[in-house]
Amino acid sequence: MRVYVLAVLLLIQHLLAQNMSGASSGSSYACTNSESKSWAFCDKALSIEKRVADLISRLSLQEKISQLGNGADDISSIDVPAYQWWGEALHGVASSPSVHWDGPVKGATSFPMPISLAASFNKSLWNKIGQVISTEGRAMHNLKQSGLTFWSPVINLVRDPRWGRVQETPGEDPYLIGQYSVYFVRGMQEAKDYDPSNQDDDGNEYFALKTSACCKHYTAYDLDNWHGIERYYFNAEVTKQDLADTYNPPFQSCVQEGRASCLMCSYNKVNGVPTCGDPDLLKGIVRKAWGLRGYIVTDCDSLLVMYDQSRYSRSPAEAIATAMLAGLDLNCGSTIKNHGATAVNQSLISEDDIDRALSNTLTVLMRLGIFDGSPLDQPYGSLGEDDICSDEHQDLAREAAVQGIVLLKNEEDSLPLSPSQIKTLAIIGPNADDKKYTMLGNYAGRPCKYVTPLQGISTYHIDTVVFETGCSSIDCSSDEKIEDAVSAAKKADAVILVMGLDQDLERETFDRNSLKLPGKQELLVSSVANVSSGPVVLVLMSGGPLDISWAKTDSKIQSILWMGYSGQAGGLALAQIIFGDRDPVGRLPVTWYPETITDWPMTNMNMRPDPDSGYPGRTHRFYNGPTVYEFGYGMSYSKSTTTEVTAPTNFKAPDLFQQACYHKRLTTEQIDSIGCLQSDLDACMEASLPMSITVKNGGPTAVTEVVLVYHVPPRAGEGGTQLKELIAFERTEVQSFSSKIIDLTINLCYHTSTVKQDGTRALQLGIHKFVVSSGSGTPAEHSFSVQ
Ligand SMILES: *[C@@H]1O[C@H](CO)[C@@H](O)[C@H](O)[C@H]1NC(C)=O
Ligand SMILES: *[C@@H]1O[C@H](CO)[C@@H](O)[C@H](O)[C@H]1NC(C)=O
Ligand SMILES: *[C@@H]1O[C@H](CO)[C@@H](O)[C@H](O)[C@H]1NC(C)=O
Ligand SMILES: *[C@@H]1O[C@H](CO)[C@@H](O)[C@H](O)[C@H]1NC(C)=O
Repeated sequence: MRVYVLAVLLLIQHLLAQNMSGASSGSSYACTNSESKSWAFCDKALSIEKRVADLISRLSLQEKISQLGNGADDISSIDVPAYQWWGEALHGVASSPSVHWDGPVKGATSFPMPISLAASFNKSLWNKIGQVISTEGRAMHNLKQSGLTFWSPVINLVRDPRWGRVQETPGEDPYLIGQYSVYFVRGMQEAKDYDPSNQDDDGNEYFALKTSACCKHYTAYDLDNWHGIERYYFNAEVTKQDLADTYNPPFQSCVQEGRASCLMCSYNKVNGVPTCGDPDLLKGIVRKAWGLRGYIVTDCDSLLVMYDQSRYSRSPAEAIATAMLAGLDLNCGSTIKNHGATAVNQSLISEDDIDRALSNTLTVLMRLGIFDGSPLDQPYGSLGEDDICSDEHQDLAREAAVQGIVLLKNEEDSLPLSPSQIKTLAIIGPNADDKKYTMLGNYAGRPCKYVTPLQGISTYHIDTVVFETGCSSIDCSSDEKIEDAVSAAKKADAVILVMGLDQDLERETFDRNSLKLPGKQELLVSSVANVSSGPVVLVLMSGGPLDISWAKTDSKIQSILWMGYSGQAGGLALAQIIFGDRDPVGRLPVTWYPETITDWPMTNMNMRPDPDSGYPGRTHRFYNGPTVYEFGYGMSYSKSTTTEVTAPTNFKAPDLFQQACYHKRLTTEQIDSIGCLQSDLDACMEASLPMSITVKNGGPTAVTEVVLVYHVPPRAGEGGTQLKELIAFERTEVQSFSSKIIDLTINLCYHTSTVKQDGTRALQLGIHKFVVSSGSGTPAEHSFSVQ
């Protein structure tokens, strides 16, 4: 296993060592030489299909194969430069093989990690961030410092809180993750004035791409390295039911509603078959049922894994054939480049298979304008240095961080603090003034600038600010620095402790074993709180959830804030929340479980509880044990809102609801394959009920609330039926002494049906319920009967 990790690292280093940004020989851009006028693939007036077919027709088999790795070679015969496909932009343009900082651009805007962005529950924020990242990516491309294909976002659902990559995801709820992906991907891909209402218009399927985003990693992947079991060969045993209503829906939304131009398959196997080699998962579901218009790429390098680590295939050529026949188009790595010819020679695949893959990848490059000549002469050609790290972009990074901070505890309205009433403030903790860019998380680039919590808090006027790290490193293995922290706290009027984790304790290839704060951190916090006479604020930086039950019940710790990893401006955002310039409105995007959940092996992929073994299930939809904090939890300073919900109380279910025709966007093939009648489908589409939510603000200042709408099916929690399902959410502002009405149309087939054990949907007869929560008040409930 070590050897393999090393191999991946060497691969990455090798890729980084090459000059990946622009041309490797010949001219810098395709379709700029004197002959290109006569080449159809360079002719912008022709359809993309015609141009792609023309380009493919000009290539030898070896040239074709040389295009199917992330580092596509140049094609000297037609003056097409090399292209590096591998770019990352998880929360800002990130260091990756196609991105470098060795040019006029020295940094890019670094937003909060997706787990923090998800906590904002703000769709327009995600869209705006996608727009800013793609603008900066385009500008860097114009300056030859970046490609245009980015392998982001990560939309795997968090099943297990120990997973090292929780930080990279939008959390544990399939609907929340799906919506995040839709708004982020659209921001990345679509021109600002692009009209998404045209989405069903076939002629519009190949809309021009601003940059290309990628839904990854498909599917049932949330284990990296747990007790030596590694993602590369882990066989995820997943039920049809969990796959259909939990693991796959985020990817379906990303492909269908987000209209992503790429999907990446994961390393792991699902029920014995590597995802990159499973024709049902790729050709069947992604291409046919969801209608992906884009390319499918491997994780790096999962083809190598297929014959090496996982021993699923006997040779590289066989792995290539398995994957390409399953629907794979591009290989991150060089297995296809090195062994593709052998696979063809051995008749494991045909040249037609290569052509099909190539047509999917080249279509995306065409849509990006790679064959339209110099990018400087194209629609985004005027973007340059001034469009990167602009004041506006940096302010959005701060705003995003503010929106994602979650207030978990606030006894006696201890927060916000008033700077004028504090003479001496003690700031304590290993994450308070980190020099390791902890708030950037992973998959980071170089930030425009970086403001630590200590720096952010110090922008407010306070006579004396005393800083103590309390621990010499994040793992806090010794208590030698606690005494200094305690004496600082004794003299202070207020104490802010900034604790938590960093990339040494949770990251890709590194899962946690415990949900507790590391080493002596808990002792440090308790000791400091014990001697403090004024307010004590505990701030937690982490991607994954923490079991901090002890702090929840310690009356000396009045307030707890979770800030995730909140990007380059996290320290400013934290200060704005602590001093009350902004109200905390973020809500938890994952369940915070007690430590006892770690008694269960991380390899158990089941979402549903098992009464026989006592397995409690996972996520707010199924988990039936105690929580430290629930999914959706979060307090605000303002408490002036109340929520009401109205909807019809009876609904007659037509007979056709016994059939499995429940998805809102079925393709023709899918309708045929599951035997739905068009008339059933039409009737299902009409089975809608209006729901109206009123959020009233009885206070004298405007309030922002996150409204979460859950559906509770009949027999919730029994026999594998979910406890509840998030079906809508809205972050909304309500003016003083007024109401906001949110009108929703609930489709019975789509929103209130549940997935059966065989993976198909059905609408359950009986009493259903809607539960609408917003703010700290009691949730509003509405029951209705379906007969
Ligand atoms: C990389 O490419 C850039 C621009 O295309 C060029 O200026 C630079 O010299 C190249 N570096 C190497 C190491 O080839
Ligand atoms: C294809 O196979 C033949 C023999 O079967 C061999 O002579 C030839 O070198 C092979 N070509 C490649 C590209 O592997
Ligand atoms: C808190 O302070 C009391 C008395 O000052 C002491 O007995 C106790 O051990 C302290 N607890 C902690 C956790 O430091
Ligand atoms: C959502 O985010 C956008 C972008 O920052 C912001 O303009 C808007 O006010 C936010 N909405 C709410 C209700 O907070």
